[in-house]
Amino acid sequence: MTATPIDIVAWFVYVLASVMFVMGLHYMNSPKTARKGNFISAAGMVLAVAMAFVKLFVTGGYNWIAVGLLIAGIAVGAIAGVVSAKKVKMTDMPQLVSVFNTVGGGAAALVALNDILASDHTPNLVVLITAGLGVMIGSVTFTGSLIAAGKLQGIGFVKKMRLPGKSVWNVLFIVLMLASFVLLCVFPEQRLLWSILTTVFALCYGLVFVIPIGGADMPVVISVLNACTGTAVAMSGLAIDNVALIVAGALVGAAGVTLSVLMSQAMNRPLMSVLAGGFGGSDASTGAADGPEGTMKETTADDVAVQLVYADKVIFVPGFGLAQAQAQRELADLGELLKEHGVEVEYAIHPVAGRMPGHMNVLLAEANVPYDELVDLDDVNPQFPSANVSLVVGANDVTNPAARKPGTPVSGMPILDVDKSQNVVVMKRGRGRGYAGIENELYFEDNTQMLFGDAKAGLQAVIAAVKELLD
Ligand code: TAP
Repeated sequence: MTATPIDIVAWFVYVLASVMFVMGLHYMNSPKTARKGNFISAAGMVLAVAMAFVKLFVTGGYNWIAVGLLIAGIAVGAIAGVVSAKKVKMTDMPQLVSVFNTVGGGAAALVALNDILASDHTPNLVVLITAGLGVMIGSVTFTGSLIAAGKLQGIGFVKKMRLPGKSVWNVLFIVLMLASFVLLCVFPEQRLLWSILTTVFALCYGLVFVIPIGGADMPVVISVLNACTGTAVAMSGLAIDNVALIVAGALVGAAGVTLSVLMSQAMNRPLMSVLAGGFGGSDASTGAADGPEGTMKETTADDVAVQLVYADKVIFVPGFGLAQAQAQRELADLGELLKEHGVEVEYAIHPVAGRMPGHMNVLLAEANVPYDELVDLDDVNPQFPSANVSLVVGANDVTNPAARKPGTPVSGMPILDVDKSQNVVVMKRGRGRGYAGIENELYFEDNTQMLFGDAKAGLQAVIAAVKELLD
């Protein structure tokens, strides 16, 4: 088939849009240029969508009902995107990403399904393989991400879902899904039957893949599903021969895989176990029963201020509670006060502190904390024994010494060795547990004191007490 002028123009515009996606990603490397990167990528997407419209009109391959539906779809998507970007809190971003994965995976599966079923002619093997993969991966992502979003949002019945014999269900649906896919390729004349069965088994596999996973393992799953969304989109792009979809999907897929590998390394979880459908004992309900022995010792803001002012070295340990309280500026102000007084201050950053990759870095950058004061897990851990005080602000799981023992939901996860500091002060509202749902042994150690209350109000009280001491 020879290319028409509009095909050639569309190809160039899609390549330009793809270059803009790549440039956008490059600018997202640093918080300083991330806004610009977002803008360039969004402009590339607008260009690609506009070109698709132009092509539709020039080739006459449209009817007004379809155009109306497309415009309505774009309007609903744009409004939902703007509202969610403005309204959803940073701490709820993982759920939002998961919902986006649901929509992306579902859309990719529908595009691929349409490519298999809409044509009057039997599709060739290349289309069947690429579109079939798009249907499979997109459908797994659709249901898997839906469950992941429900779990992260804490929706009661989703969180309580259990799957006895999870491995059997996983293997069963993988086999059924792959068998239907192979039969789709072998018997394309029966494509309606086999593509529907592939879709149904893939949707079921998405459910049984994510239901058994819980607690601290969820971030890795979201990232894997993100990679799946990208791969499904790229497969759909290959099936309908759209270069912008192929590149956008490949970028999301590659970024998702890289992030999954980095996050599973950060949590010391084997990525292959996640892909096989969950790893044992990861649920918050396991290991939660045997709490540590002893009592928590309470302290006051005045007491904490004295410890901080007389310290040579203080390490701040921020966690999800800091983000929840939006107390990053207060923490930065306290750091500045102490530094002016000659105290060495550092911020210990755990790779999965908070609810999304880089969460703490973004928060602290917002409060103008210099980058060189943010110290990664590997570099900061040897420093805890020399810290006179470690001030833990709304961090829980990432400081839990239970991770060093087997049989708990956080077992094996690298932690910040806060318990090795000379003194530890933990700021949190009450006796609530962390994301993994287990008690933190750190709170019961002899060298740990608890300053209960909201992190923002607590830090303001400590700042006031420090100022009073220094006057
Ligand atoms: P968590 O283990 O979730 O603990 C946060 C603590 O903050 C809670 O114990 C809570 O205790 C306290 N808190 C909540 N609101 C507060 C407020 N307003 N003021 C003061 N304290 C407050 O956090 P973490 O240590 O940062 O660990 C992160 C966890 O999230 C890990 O398990 C990780 O796997 C998971 N996760 C991470 C990511 C990524 S990629 N970062 C994504 C999803 C999940 P109180 O209720 O008693 O106040």
